[in-house]
Amino acid sequence: MISKVRKVPVNGRVAVIGAGISGLTYSYFLRKLRPDIKITIFESSRRVGGWISSRKIDLKDGSEVFLEKGPRTLRVVSDGTLLIIDILKQLGATDQIYGMKKDSVANRKYLLTNTNELLAVPYSTKTAIRFLGSGIVNDVLKGLILEPFRSKRAQRDESVAQFFRRRLGNDALTNNIISAIYHGIYAGDVAQLSVQSLMPKMVELEKTHGSLLRGAMAKRKSGTKGPVLPDTLIQYSQKISPNSSFEELKDQLKGINLIRLQDGLETFPNAVAASLKGSVDFRFGSEVTHIDPSTGSVKVDNGVEKFDHIRSTINTNKLSELLQDDEMKNVLSLDYVSVLLANIYTKKPVIIPEGQHGFGFLVPKSHPNEECLLGTIFDSDIENYTDPIFQNAIQGQFSKTSTYNKVTLMIGGHFYNDRNVPSGKIIEKKIKNILQRIFDIRGTDYNLIFENPAELFPDKMALKANDVLISYNLHENCIPQYNVGYEQKKALVSSLIASKYDNRISLGGMAFGEGVGVPDCVMSSLGHALEIA
Ligand SMILES: Cc1cc2nc3c(=O)[nH]c(=O)nc-3n(C[C@H](O)[C@H](O)[C@H](O)COP(=O)(O)OP(=O)(O)OC[C@H]3O[C@@H](n4cnc5c(N)ncnc54)[C@H](O)[C@@H]3O)c2cc1C
Ligand SMILES: *[C@@H]1O[C@H](CO)[C@@H](O)[C@H](O)[C@H]1NC(C)=O
Ligand SMILES: *[C@@H]1O[C@H](CO)[C@@H](O)[C@H](O)[C@H]1NC(C)=O
Repeated sequence: MISKVRKVPVNGRVAVIGAGISGLTYSYFLRKLRPDIKITIFESSRRVGGWISSRKIDLKDGSEVFLEKGPRTLRVVSDGTLLIIDILKQLGATDQIYGMKKDSVANRKYLLTNTNELLAVPYSTKTAIRFLGSGIVNDVLKGLILEPFRSKRAQRDESVAQFFRRRLGNDALTNNIISAIYHGIYAGDVAQLSVQSLMPKMVELEKTHGSLLRGAMAKRKSGTKGPVLPDTLIQYSQKISPNSSFEELKDQLKGINLIRLQDGLETFPNAVAASLKGSVDFRFGSEVTHIDPSTGSVKVDNGVEKFDHIRSTINTNKLSELLQDDEMKNVLSLDYVSVLLANIYTKKPVIIPEGQHGFGFLVPKSHPNEECLLGTIFDSDIENYTDPIFQNAIQGQFSKTSTYNKVTLMIGGHFYNDRNVPSGKIIEKKIKNILQRIFDIRGTDYNLIFENPAELFPDKMALKANDVLISYNLHENCIPQYNVGYEQKKALVSSLIASKYDNRISLGGMAFGEGVGVPDCVMSSLGHALEIA
C-alpha cells in the first residue's frame, strides 16, 4: 500500500454496506479489535448471509433436507479456512465442522465427455489409463513435447486460452480440461479470464525458466518449502484470538481437502451475526442509495448519516452507481456472470451413476452444450464421505444408512453473456433435458416437482419414492470475472481510493479483494479491519 490508512478515531463510526459474510466478518474483527467503534451494518434484504443460503425443508418423515443455494464447501488450502475454523471455535460451533479426506471417494472428479459419459480425472492406475486412452489428451501431449522449445513472450497480460495456445501450440488442454475447471470456480470463460490473475505461478514459470516444463522440473529439484502463515493470521492470534493455534490446526487438517458445515454453510453467517447482536447496529431493509467517501456520508431512503469509514462489500458496478463519480465508475466496472442453480433431491439413490461417486463433474468448453451446463455437484456424496473434525460433532441428516441423492446443477455463467438468459418454463425444460440426457431421469418414470423462487414450497412437505424435487434460482450477476487486465484495474482502484478519498472507503467481497471464495472474502475482511483499527 502506498498511502497509510487513517485509523478510526476513538468512539468513531464505521458504516458497513452488506450483511453477507464479508460485511459480517469485517464487523466481527473490528468489534474485537476496537470495541469503542460504533458499527452500523446496512443490508437491503431482511436477512444476513448474502449468497450463502441453506434452504431447509421438513420432509415430514422425521428428516430434514437442506439445499445449498450458494456456496457449500471451503477449501482447506486457503488460509481463510483456518481463520473460519477458529471463528467457529470461538463461537462454540466446532461441532458443525466436517472434513473430507483427500483420498475419499467424494474427492473424485469427472469431466463430461462429448458422448455424455463421466470420465474420471485419474485417481488410480486404471483411471489414469482410461483417461489417457480417452483421446482428450492426445493433442495436449503433442503440444507438451515441443513446449520447452517455444519462445517466451514479453510481459503483458493475456487470457488463459491465449497463454496455453502460445505454450502448447493448440487449444486442446484449454478446451478439454482447463475450461472445465474455471467453469467450476468462476462460471467463466478461459478466452476472457486473465492468466496473470488465475495462474500467476504458471506465468512466473515461463518468465523465469522460459518454459513451463523446464520450470516445473527445476521446481521439483529445488523442492518446495512449506507455506508460512501470513502476517494477518499472526496478528489475528496476537490481537483477537490468543488461543488460536494455526500451526496445530494445520497439523490437525493434514490430509483434509475441504470442509463443510453439517447444518449448511449458512450456520456460519448466522453464528457471526448472533455474536454481533446488541453491539452492532443492524439495519435490515436498508438499501444504501448514495455515498460520498470524502465526507463519509451514507444515504438510505431520505436519511443521511456521517461515518469515519465506509466499508463496501457489494457488487462494484452497483457501488459505482452509489458513488456517482465517472472516474471511479470506469475502474470499478467489472463483468459479472449470472448462474442458474438447480438443487435436486430424491429419497432414493437414483441420480448419481453407479460406480461414479465423487465430488461431481465439470463440463469443458469443447462439449456441444445446448443447455449451458457448467457442472454438477454431488452433494449427497460430499455429505456421505465427510466426517467430523472435532470430537463433539453433531449428527446430521446423513446417517451412513440413508440413501437419498442430492445434486446441484450449475448452469449459465459466461454462456449467458451472449445469449438470452432463459426464464420460467424454458428453464424447467433445460433442466429436464439435462436430467434425461445425463442422468437418465425421465418425466415418464419420475414425478418432477419444480420449485422456483416466486413460488416457494411450504417448509414442510412429504416426498414420495419417485418424486424428484427440483428447486432452482437464477443468481444474477453473482460472480465477478477477473478478465484480462484485472490486476492493473485493481491497482488503479486502490490508488484512486487513496488519492481521491484518503482511504475513507475500503472494498471487501469478491470483486477487488483476495479472490471470489468465502475464505478469500474473510481474509480480506481481516486484513482491512487490522488496517483501520
Ligand atoms: C452459486 C455460487 C456458488 C459458490 N460456491 C462457493 C463455494 O463452494 N465455496 C466458496 O468458498 N465460495 C463459493 N462462492 C462464492 C461465495 O458465495 C462468496 O465468496 C461470498 O458469499 C461473498 O460474500 P460477500 O459478503 O462478499 O457478498 P454477498 O454475499 O453478495 O453480500 C452482499 C450483501 O450486500 C447486500 N447489498 C447489496 N447492495 C446493497 C445496498 N445498496 N445497500 C445495502 N445492502 C446491499 C446484499 O443484499 C447482500 O446481502 C459461490 C458463489 C456463488 C454465487
Ligand atoms: C483460552 O483458553 C483458556 C483455557 O481453555 C480459557 O480459560 C480462556 O478463556 C481462553 N481465552 C480466550 C480469549 O478465549
Ligand atoms: C455412503 O457411504 C457408504 C460407505 O461409507 C456406502 O456404503 C454407501 O453406499 C453410501 N451411500 C450412498 C447413498 O451412496
